[in-house]
Amino acid sequence: MSKKAENVVTMEKIVSLCKRRGFVYPSSEIYGGFAAIYDMGPYGVELSTNIKNEWWKYMVQIRPDIVGLDSAIFMHPRTWEASGHVSGFSDPLTECKKCHTRLRVDHLLEDIGVAADEKMSEKEIDKIFSENVKNIKCPNCGSKDFSGAKKFNLLVKSNLGNFTENWDKEPAYLRGETCQGIYVDYKNVLDSTRVKIPFGIAQIGKAFRNEITARQFIFRTREFEQMEMQYFVTEATEMTEYEKLKKYRWDFYTKVLGFDEKDLKWHKHENLVFYAKEAYDIEFNYPFGFKELEGIHARGDYDLTQHTKFSGQDLTYTDQTTGDKFMPHIIESSVGVGRTILAALCSAYCEEGEGESSRTVLKFPYKLAPIKVAVFPLLKNKPELVAKAREIFDSLTPSMMCEFDDNGNIGKRYRRQDEIGTPFCVTVDFDTLDDDTVTVRHRDTMKQERVKIVELDGFFHKHNL
Ligand code: GAP
Repeated sequence: MSKKAENVVTMEKIVSLCKRRGFVYPSSEIYGGFAAIYDMGPYGVELSTNIKNEWWKYMVQIRPDIVGLDSAIFMHPRTWEASGHVSGFSDPLTECKKCHTRLRVDHLLEDIGVAADEKMSEKEIDKIFSENVKNIKCPNCGSKDFSGAKKFNLLVKSNLGNFTENWDKEPAYLRGETCQGIYVDYKNVLDSTRVKIPFGIAQIGKAFRNEITARQFIFRTREFEQMEMQYFVTEATEMTEYEKLKKYRWDFYTKVLGFDEKDLKWHKHENLVFYAKEAYDIEFNYPFGFKELEGIHARGDYDLTQHTKFSGQDLTYTDQTTGDKFMPHIIESSVGVGRTILAALCSAYCEEGEGESSRTVLKFPYKLAPIKVAVFPLLKNKPELVAKAREIFDSLTPSMMCEFDDNGNIGKRYRRQDEIGTPFCVTVDFDTLDDDTVTVRHRDTMKQERVKIVELDGFFHKHNL
């Protein structure tokens, strides 16, 4: 049985812990919030940075064949015509005629067990919707009266650099995915670095989508971050490289982020976009079921062919040894930071013990923990304890995120650190003043041991902090 089942992780518990402990806040909450947008609080931003750093290390730092990039959010509007987003990046929408809530048709169908997806044409999905609408109720008001299914474009428009009143006729788009920046910079990377096929370009950055339904917390938001890697290959090696990438990405979740294999599964796309050779999702077992965490796609030569056509620039690749000139094929790995954070929180969440001794603890792998070490003076009103604890805190902060806490009893301070997943707590007590040792308490076992202050660095180093 997976750890999650024993602990009964629910979205209510995760959302409440995130708000209470400063991982995630609803955006602009003092104004009533802003639908499908969230802010990362002090611990959320640490967790997010740790996840992104692990991804970068795994996808760029240890890969001599992959380089990094940070392209701008705004791109030439033709980019989005070439990519197909202006004409085809849409979700099927219906409106409840009673309460006017707008809903995603494929999600309503999925809820009653009818397969449909956003890649179907408006006609196809409207037909399936009208055949099944009698079994569907509006989740907001219970009405069964809906408008027909219509496709709604997800690109977010802006008037950046356009000072006319009719700017929305020629908008600048906020990017709907980060990978387009990789495709349009691919030639620059080729010309300015020593990469040779097969090679990859990776980047982490914000993307924006006018998602119709905002639900499931940070799982589906209108502003989100993606971690994407596009790997440029020959047509002949596309599918073998694709299989290698699939395994490499699976290992990231199990070996680097420490997710339980039982909480992950593959989902093969049956209904592919016309240019794709194969597409798989890695799904995670969220509290609302197995859902897409990451997409891994074999995209053929579609992207560079389209940008060649629309930009008029030759984006072919010339093999320096054979002289062969060809359009590279692309395989991609694409995952949202928010979905990874949510998966990491669900994986780490544990409730232990009963009554007085019960606790909630986030058992993150140490490298993901927002705070690595918390330092406490036993008593707040004893200056010599506070000064010693401060000294230890100041000696640790240059190398890791630490927290100083002198509030409340020690038990409560431990519980607070457990809830944010801090691996170690260091307490300075009266013995410290005599023998220069401190109590180090382990998060997972709650075991305590005395460690000499001069040996703390080595102790944490031994635990890979
Ligand atoms: N370049 C390919 C691409 O963008 P996608 O399946 O549309 O493919 C890739 O998105 C990943 O981005 C998803 O697997 C998910 O992790 C994340 N993602 C997509 N839309 C999202 C949203 N509205 N909110 C949060 N994450 C999202």
